[in-house]
Amino acid sequence: MDFHLTREQDMLRETVRAFAEEVLKPRAAGLDRSREFPVDNYRRCAELGLCGMMVPETYGGAGFDGVSYVIAIEEVSRACASTGVILSVNNSLFCAPILRFGNETQKRKYLVPHARGERIGAYCLTEPQCGSDAAALSTLARRTGDRYLLKGNKVFVTNGVAADTFVVYATLDPGLRHKGICAFIVERGFPGLSLGKPEHKLGITCSGSVEIVLDGCEVPAENLLGTEGEGFKIAMATLDGGRIGIAAQAIGIARAALEESLAYSQGRQAFGQRIADFQAIQWKLADMATEIEAARLLAYRAAWTRDHRERCSLETSMAKLFASEACMRAAREGVQIHGGYGYINEFTVERLFRDAKITEIYEGTSEIQRLVIAKEILRED
Ligand code: CAA
Repeated sequence: MDFHLTREQDMLRETVRAFAEEVLKPRAAGLDRSREFPVDNYRRCAELGLCGMMVPETYGGAGFDGVSYVIAIEEVSRACASTGVILSVNNSLFCAPILRFGNETQKRKYLVPHARGERIGAYCLTEPQCGSDAAALSTLARRTGDRYLLKGNKVFVTNGVAADTFVVYATLDPGLRHKGICAFIVERGFPGLSLGKPEHKLGITCSGSVEIVLDGCEVPAENLLGTEGEGFKIAMATLDGGRIGIAAQAIGIARAALEESLAYSQGRQAFGQRIADFQAIQWKLADMATEIEAARLLAYRAAWTRDHRERCSLETSMAKLFASEACMRAAREGVQIHGGYGYINEFTVERLFRDAKITEIYEGTSEIQRLVIAKEILRED
């Protein structure tokens, strides 16, 4: 076993770190306040090949491996966690299912421009009455002639305000549970699709989360992704990849919290010495650093497994669970180390604390990750 990154992975880290430090970091606080979707950040990321990282070059992507993807999302998220999830959704939740389940026409038409970052993709699974129990979704798909009509509402759609194209999950018959679900590629301009109200969120404020209303939305039959009834498996296989992206995002946020805390604790004096000289602070810093390292190893292993094996639910759920909870602990301790200043929005840790929380919720709550892990380790085969 070799724990070294390859030369390409090292170079990628250096390049993305420099870009994130120079371009993304100075904008992050302003975007957090304005809540505007950072289209320019996305375009700049596209120039570096960060929008379709694991898509082969023949389909407009950069052809990187999974570990490289984790490296890039961590670096981006360390500077701007909103931009991290925006990229993760386009890469993992939009491009990945089209690459894996799409036909050649769908790949040429949709994968290429999204992998190049000329367009923005989103993923529509969650509904007002259905989140963790994804098989219970009730958005209906009815086939009429050469098209499907979709009816229902999707909520918390990351990238939704700016997205050009959505992968939408809908059911032919809710009574069939997961066996009735289909996946569709839906363009923003298709008749019957409209945007509802943008969400005003605690953190990750500029990732454009919005409700998508499908009121008899007309989707050409050729935009069915995979086959009828295959949608649930597409959604789950897609989330296996998405959860690696969120683990990477969480590691980036946690690392930012650690770095802010290291700097603050070495500058701040109390009782006649730097607070970094107190063991109470040192232990917090040591725990943060150790957990970040452990989370990163789990994320790398999950990404590597995904590159080498079709099913990787165990590894990805472990990585997402551990990284997101480590992230929340790091952000909480970061605020604590900063004392009163940590509670004030001029200090970065205040934003990191707000940004951290969602990593324990989206793309499957910590409770759902534990459920997936338990199912896998109890499996009899
Ligand atoms: N890959 C392929 N197939 C899978 C799979 C996977 N990872 N997971 C399950 N399946 C298959 C199973 O093998 C089974 O197939 P068979 O019918 O052939 O046996 C079928 O799917 C049903 O599986 P389960 O019985 O395990 O399904 P379930 O109803 O018990 O649900 C669950 C499982 C893990 C709870 C799932 O519903 C889940 O992950 N829920 C959380 C949903 C979620 O993460 N939502 C996030 C929204 S997206 C978001 O947040 C994006 C954003 O904007 C950032």
